[in-house]
Formats: sequence, C-alpha cells, structure tokens
Amino acid sequence: MSTKNQEQLNEKYKVINHEYDVVIVGAGGAGLRATLGMAATGLSTACITKVFPTRSHTTAAQGGMSAALGNMGEDSWKWHMYDTVKGSDWLGDQDAIEYMCREAIPAVIELEHYGVPFSRTDEGKIYQRPFGGMTTHYGEGVAQRTCAAADRTGHAILHTLYQQSLKHKAEFFIEYFATDLIMEDGVCKGVMAWDLTTGELHCFRGHQVVLATGGSGRTYFSATSAHTCTGDGSAMVLRAGLPLQDMEFVQFHPTGVYGAGVLITEGVRGEGGYLTNSENERFMERYAPNAKDLASRDVVSRSMTIEINEGRGVGPDKDHIFLNLQHLGPEVIEERLPGISESAKIFAGVDVTKDPIPVLPTVHYNMGGIPTNYKGEVVTVDGDNPDAVVPGLMAIGECACVSVHGANRLGSNSLLDIVVFGRAAAIRAAEIVDKDKPHLPLQDGTFDALLARFDNTRNASGKESTAALRDSMQRAMQKYAAVFRTGDNMKEGVKELQAIFDKYADVGIVDRGLKWNTDLLETLELENLLAQAQVTVAGALHRKESRGGHSREDYPDRDDENWMKHTLAWIDDTGKVTFGDRPVHMYTLTDDCEVIPPKKRVY
Ligand code: FUM
Repeated sequence: MSTKNQEQLNEKYKVINHEYDVVIVGAGGAGLRATLGMAATGLSTACITKVFPTRSHTTAAQGGMSAALGNMGEDSWKWHMYDTVKGSDWLGDQDAIEYMCREAIPAVIELEHYGVPFSRTDEGKIYQRPFGGMTTHYGEGVAQRTCAAADRTGHAILHTLYQQSLKHKAEFFIEYFATDLIMEDGVCKGVMAWDLTTGELHCFRGHQVVLATGGSGRTYFSATSAHTCTGDGSAMVLRAGLPLQDMEFVQFHPTGVYGAGVLITEGVRGEGGYLTNSENERFMERYAPNAKDLASRDVVSRSMTIEINEGRGVGPDKDHIFLNLQHLGPEVIEERLPGISESAKIFAGVDVTKDPIPVLPTVHYNMGGIPTNYKGEVVTVDGDNPDAVVPGLMAIGECACVSVHGANRLGSNSLLDIVVFGRAAAIRAAEIVDKDKPHLPLQDGTFDALLARFDNTRNASGKESTAALRDSMQRAMQKYAAVFRTGDNMKEGVKELQAIFDKYADVGIVDRGLKWNTDLLETLELENLLAQAQVTVAGALHRKESRGGHSREDYPDRDDENWMKHTLAWIDDTGKVTFGDRPVHMYTLTDDCEVIPPKKRVY
C-alpha cells in the first residue's frame, strides 16, 4: 500500500491507544478466571469481550466440573489423571494432565470460596455426580467426581467469576470484537479491536495477550456451541503465521436435541438416564458392557450413529435416538436437572417426566486449538525445539490445546480446564510480567496491514453473500468431517471447502457503517471460521489412523507407531494447509505419579 493510501486510512480510522500490563481477549470461564487472577495480583488488566461476560458460551455448560474431592465416595487425583489419559486415547500431554487433575482440587475449593452456589449433599459438601469415563481404582469402579450446581454449573461459575473480577477492578471492554494480534518479530505486542457500539478502532497494548476466545463449533451446521463460537482467537493466531494443533479432533456430544442441536447434559446419564433405539433396547450394553451409557463420548456417539445407520433409529425417519429419564421421577428431575427439563420442553416439546427426549450426536467441542504449555504460554516449533514459547502470547480454554484432552475430552473436564488453566495463566503472568514496564512504540507499519484488512472487508463489494457462504461451509463440514470419516469422502470435503474459501475473496457486504454493523461482524467471523474449517478437514485427511473423536473407516485402528504425535497445521492466504508435528509429552511433571502407557481400550 502506498504511503498516501496509508495516511488516508490512518486519517479515516483514528485508532485509540490503551496500555495495560495484560490484555485478555474473551470473558468466558477461562478469560474471567485469568482476568480475576491477574487483576488480583495487581497487574493492570483489560478484558476485551465480544459479548457481555455473563452471556459467554460457558453459561451453557451444564453438568459440572470434575475434581477428585471424594465427597461422595473415595477418589484420588491419580485416578482422575488415569481416566483423562485413557480418555484422550493417549494423545494428551501427561505433564499437563497431571497438573490439571492435581490442581482441580484447590481450584474448585477456591470457586466455592468465591461464592459459586454448588448443589450440596445432606452433609453440606459439594454435590458430585458420575460422568462418562470417570472411574475409581484405575478403571475398576464408577467415580462420583463431577461437581455440580444442578445442571447450570457453567452459569453459576461465570456469574461468580465476573463478580470477582469486578471486585478486583479489572477493566472490561464489552462488545468489542478483537480483529488481529499485533505481532513484531515473532513477539505479541497487543491486539486490535473494534468497538461494536461506537464503531471506533482500538489498539490494546499488553506485555501478555491472553486468548480465551473459545472454540469454533460454528464451522458446523448443528452444534451445541453458541452462534458466537467462531474461533476468533485461533484465526488470529493462524493469520499471525502460527500453527493450530490437533484440529482434526472434534467432539460430538451424544445428546444434542434432535433438530435444534441444544445440549442435554451428560449429567442426565450420570443421574441414571439411558439411551434406547427403535426396538426399545438399551443398546449401549452391547457396545460398552462395563461403562454402558457412561462410556466416553466418542464411543457413545459412534454407537448411536451405528444404530441409526443400521436402521434402528427412532422417529418417522429412523434418524435419531431416545434419551430416557422418566424413571428418575419428578423430584430428582426438578432438583438436579431443571435446566434440561426446560430445554427439552422448548426445543423438543417433551415433558421429560413422561416422555424420552429425541437426541442425536452433535458437534460440541474442539479438542484441538492453539498449542500451549501447562502454564498457558503459546508454543510453536522453532528448529529442534518443539516447545518454543511465543513471547507475549498466552491461550487458555477451548481455543487452546494444552493438550489435556488429546483425541477425546471427558465430560466435565472442560469447566475444569478453563478454571485450572485460567488460574495457571494468572500465576505465570504474575511471575513474568514486569508490572508497569513501559510499552515501546510500535515499529512503523506494524498496524498498517491490520487496518487495511479491516477496511477491505468493510468495503467488500463482491457478489458472494456471507450467509450463503457460511451455510455452504457448515453443510460441508457436517458432511465431510462427521463422526465417521473416510479418505475419499474427506478428499471431496477438502475440494469443496477450498472452493468456498476461494469464493470468500469475492464476498460483498452492504452496510458500510461502523456502528453495530452486524453485516461486517458476521463477515469477519466467517473469515475466521473458514480458516478453521480448512485446517480441520485437511487435518482429518492427513491423520491416517482412528483415535478418540477421529474415526476413519479406512484406517480403523489407532496407530501409535506412526501417529502418536500432535498435528500442527499452518494456513496461507490461498487456503493451502501445511503440516508439521510435535511430540506427545509422555512424561509427568513430578515423581508422584507414573506415565500411563498406551493400552488397548476396553469399555
Ligand atoms: O454434558 C454436559 O453437561 C457437558 C459437559 C462438558 O462438555 O464437559
């Protein structure tokens, strides 16, 4: 761009500058836990968020947060660690898993002290329910490990963390959309954001920028994720020339409401609910004789899909499954599952005390994301170093890949992940941020490309509509990156998604304003989604094995010899994806526990 054009752009957008010690992007559970922790240690803390904090997607988390408190039977963080490694199909980093399971206990007690209104046992302890894959004695018994606030646990945690953050004087920039990272010579210096209300552009400088922007479930047509889950932070990382990790691993939650996609918590099965097919058979007994309906999500989702594919689905088109909880009785339902009773009524027209809920495996979670270490620092490969820290940049929560979930996340390990690693990022920032250190001026030109991208999109006048492109992408993802995958099918998917990516170059929007321009906002979000759809489907074609949530009919077995590694994916401006890898951390953080070696899985 010529100097004259650049001067005109600078004149057009009078960017407002801010300087903080730390800047957090996203105000879900991870973002708020980091915000609270950083503000509490005296760092000047800004939290930028696209939606009002208590409307973040964490509010939709229902069933609970795992922690081996042992309130309702014996438990140990080492059993929790074993379950998580096994649940990850051995792709999880065992140092990070040890950290998470060990720190779960103080982290949940801390939440209790902050004021989270957990459900209680008769003795007044935090109530804990069973969840899929959570066992005692290394797989022998069923653990009651999931700490719950009825079936509105995320909602309860989110409100408490927001209140605590305000108490510690964190500054919030609400309904600001972060557009790009400000990078110089491989160091993150801040983030550019657009104030959706006033239309102004802002430059937020921080010695650490913490991405807590959630997953990208909305690359798919049917997802439990909010429509705001467009993976904005992960896309910023890709645009900064950094890789995402293990994006081929997408979790399908077994019980999304048929048609609507709304989540029905696994807590229903934890409380004794079960699935049936058209023959009224409790089919999970065949697929997972031990764990049955509480097998891990990848197993349950595959079993349901097989039942439907083999003609034993329910409904006129035999294309879904029933979730039964009528037998639990109105008192238990009212006390422990009030939220899903309401959702089932609204979205399926079902009174759960009388009838089963029609459900279907629905996209729920990205196991992959921005690679980080267990302190929340973003890492990449640098020469021989697979764990090189990217200075100034952290990522936590669903947008990050720590990797504690590996190829498949256990239910209730997500609320845990966001709280433990939000807290870990705050601990790390307190160690490494030099409080009140001045921010040096940015180099000439650093901001120019970011401004130009924003301005080009705002003035895009091509013939392709954002809504139509988004719809084609979501349908393609649904078809080609599904519960079961094959090479031929995914090759088609890669081609189709590339065509959609190419069409985006000719996108057009009609609103040229800056205040509450949802046309522009949705287009910027679509650009973010498209990049993630590309790396997801290309990554799925690249990984020639089946592991966790990635199930290939043409490579049905796990292949530890060739694929016990994390995939790294980079994307260029043309949509071309290139791959690298990082080793799985098959070591623990301390000598307190042992490395858990790969075994064949028995359900
Ligand atoms: O089923 C649920 O309540 C979801 C929990 C989770 O994804 O961890």
